[in-house]
Amino acid sequence: MSGTTTIFYGPVINPKSLDAYAALPRCLLCVGPTGNVEWLVEDVKAHLLQETLAQKGCIDEDVVELKMGEFIIPGFIDTHTHAPQVPNIGSGQQYELLDWLDKVTFPMEAKFANTEFAQRTYQNVVRRIIDCGTTTCCYYGSLHLPSTKILANIVHTLGQRAFVGKCNMNRNCPSDYIEDSASSSLTDTSALIKHIHELPSAPTVHAATGTQHEPLVQPIITPRFAISCTGELLSGLGELAAQDPHLRIQTHISENHDEIKFTKELFPECESYADVYDTHGLLRGNTVLAHAVHLEESECKLIKKRDAGISHCPTSNFNLRSGVAPVGKFLDLGIKVGLGTDISGGFSPSILTAIQHASIASKIVAMQSPPSSKPPPPGKYASRQLPLPTLLYLATLGGARVCALESRVGSFEEGKAFDALLVNVRSEAGNIGLWGADLQDIDGGKEGKEKEVLDGLLERFFFTGDDRNISRVYVQGRLVGGKSFRGRVD
Ligand code: GUN
Ligand code: FE
Repeated sequence: MSGTTTIFYGPVINPKSLDAYAALPRCLLCVGPTGNVEWLVEDVKAHLLQETLAQKGCIDEDVVELKMGEFIIPGFIDTHTHAPQVPNIGSGQQYELLDWLDKVTFPMEAKFANTEFAQRTYQNVVRRIIDCGTTTCCYYGSLHLPSTKILANIVHTLGQRAFVGKCNMNRNCPSDYIEDSASSSLTDTSALIKHIHELPSAPTVHAATGTQHEPLVQPIITPRFAISCTGELLSGLGELAAQDPHLRIQTHISENHDEIKFTKELFPECESYADVYDTHGLLRGNTVLAHAVHLEESECKLIKKRDAGISHCPTSNFNLRSGVAPVGKFLDLGIKVGLGTDISGGFSPSILTAIQHASIASKIVAMQSPPSSKPPPPGKYASRQLPLPTLLYLATLGGARVCALESRVGSFEEGKAFDALLVNVRSEAGNIGLWGADLQDIDGGKEGKEKEVLDGLLERFFFTGDDRNISRVYVQGRLVGGKSFRGRVD
């Protein structure tokens, strides 16, 4: 928590829906002592600033005035990544999923049996992910309980909002990287849940409503994928989930053809891959399903019926040659979708890269769709390139919905947490890709064009920006990272 009230004045981008965001060049936004947005006024002309502050009863508070070329957006939400795979980023590009797991991924994850290695590595991993602008992250740990506790502790200390799970995997894995039995896997899972629930957490009460919110770090049930779990283990996890409806669940689904074939062989009694999870009580409103590249129609229907969400991981889907997920179709069906980096299937820890590849994936779908003389109707996404508001939505509000956090994060609203990025596209950020005429346009006071200029800056940040442009990262009002963050522990 920041402990004090902070007021920001300047350009704010606020996602509203799948096809709209508010570009607010002169927004006044107040973050209260517990890190929640106390209030925001969308448009305050400079000459009315003092008057507006007085009306709000803010006499002595400092106002952080954004400079030209800075803007605030909600923090990114990474709905799917693997912390112990970060040391592998960029290796094993030649493999598809199952070989890549055997040859590259499992050997690296096995090293996390060593808790000193885990401590050192996870410290750098979480720091790097925060500095990339990820304020909420769904983490897979390794199968090891002690190392995954360490991951949760580090996330907690560094102040990120996150779900942390240890992988459940008791079959079809190498002999040196497999759990002994379903029962030991379940015991360790319960122990991790208990450990995370006992982490001390500051209250995040909203002053106006008195609502007490969920802690920043929470456990998540993590059956790695159906192939690596016996039916007994999946049933045990389903029972664990049934005891606590708030407990999130994450797993992989329909990523690769060989994986799907093997899954069906292992669970012949189930109608489909999605049905494997459903049969075992693991498909519900707070289940995060990563990839979903090759779902059948009946599986889409089932996922929609259960209100589970999909983590779209386009970088990984390209990199492991898994395929192109039909995200526009999911959106048209009303299925919840967010973005995932899926390190190290994906080679970048940044959601900016996922945004870029989500755009390209949608362009591929559009290019492969039959030509049409009519433009697609608004709000229909199946056969068209995802527009900028939709990309922003997937990276923020969409991700929040997928991990059942939309009442807390993903956009700026009174009572929601201030999880935010202060983006700097000025030349001093050192990213030559973003130097350009737009800033002069702002500096020159392009009267009446401020919204268009802000739209342009957002688009260029998405497609050419990187962590050099992320000056500050806030979680629950607390400054936790970014290029100008000095409180490093690494
Ligand atoms: N399926 C099971 N495990 C994994 C993993 O670590 N990464 C990806 N991309 N898919 C998986
Ligand atoms: Fe994954």
